[in-house]
Amino acid sequence: MIVGDALRLAAARLLRAGVESPRIAAEWTLAARLGIDRLELPMRHREALAFPCAQAWEADLEHLAAGEPIQYVMGSAVFFGREFRVDSRALIPRPETEELACRVLACGELWARPKPGVCDVGTGSGCLAITLALERPGAVLQGSDLSGAALALASENARRLGAESRVRWICADLLDWVEDASLDAVVSNPPYVESGALAMLDRQVRDFEPGMALDGGPDGLRVIRRLIPQAFRTLLPGGRLWLEIGETQAGAVSALAQSAGFRDIAVATDIAGRDRILSARIAG
Ligand SMILES: C[S@@+](CC[C@H](N)C(=O)[O-])C[C@H]1O[C@@H](n2cnc3c(N)ncnc32)[C@H](O)[C@@H]1O
Repeated sequence: MIVGDALRLAAARLLRAGVESPRIAAEWTLAARLGIDRLELPMRHREALAFPCAQAWEADLEHLAAGEPIQYVMGSAVFFGREFRVDSRALIPRPETEELACRVLACGELWARPKPGVCDVGTGSGCLAITLALERPGAVLQGSDLSGAALALASENARRLGAESRVRWICADLLDWVEDASLDAVVSNPPYVESGALAMLDRQVRDFEPGMALDGGPDGLRVIRRLIPQAFRTLLPGGRLWLEIGETQAGAVSALAQSAGFRDIAVATDIAGRDRILSARIAG
């Protein structure tokens, strides 16, 4: 079969399976199997699709039709312009988290400190810790996660992206392992989905991404409620906290930050205008 016909049939099959943007999904996966850029595909439409490639692509199409996210099928996702390996060990990095990274990077006061120590709690693929390490060479980064499997992926990403010597990976519960008043910043995209809402998520998320990365307990705040006082304990005077939160959680999380002792509590919106990023500071 020629490439053009194969693509047409694949897109129709993915459409029937309920895959979003089926033609693009078919093109991305085939281009990856052919080892070419997707934009080069039209030039190959009349070429025959060779067997080994067709067989490997067929497996990709089966995974896509079963609802698996394209990033897991292709094994990669772009975060802050860099390609990260992703698989079922960790959450697929999201654009909201890129916005969190932008806000942290824009904090001149933090980066003016000598060798600022930053911990990314619940690092998953390592996207935040590695991005901050590569964008701010003077910083000292730690990435922690309760999942050893996620940390293995994060450390693989650090190696591939040249940040191996820049981030220390710790398998631990939140900030239990951190000394009092020792960090300049804590950043985190913690699990914050209400347990009861998990079943209502898109099947791509619900059935394929790790539950531990999403489940925030009955009110979505189970992890955040523990993390905020721990961040307060482990931050130095003038230290900062940034948290990605659910769009309905701004009031509750701000109240938690206030009662822990944080000041300058602010909530920023994402490009869709939803409250998604809380920042706070310790006096000093
Ligand atoms: C929403 S994911 C974020 C992953 C990554 N930082 C990102 O933004 O793509 C939350 C992460 O927190 C981790 N996690 C959940 N509970 C934790 C805990 N008690 N201590 C440390 N990490 C935890 C999960 O394993 C998961 O990797």
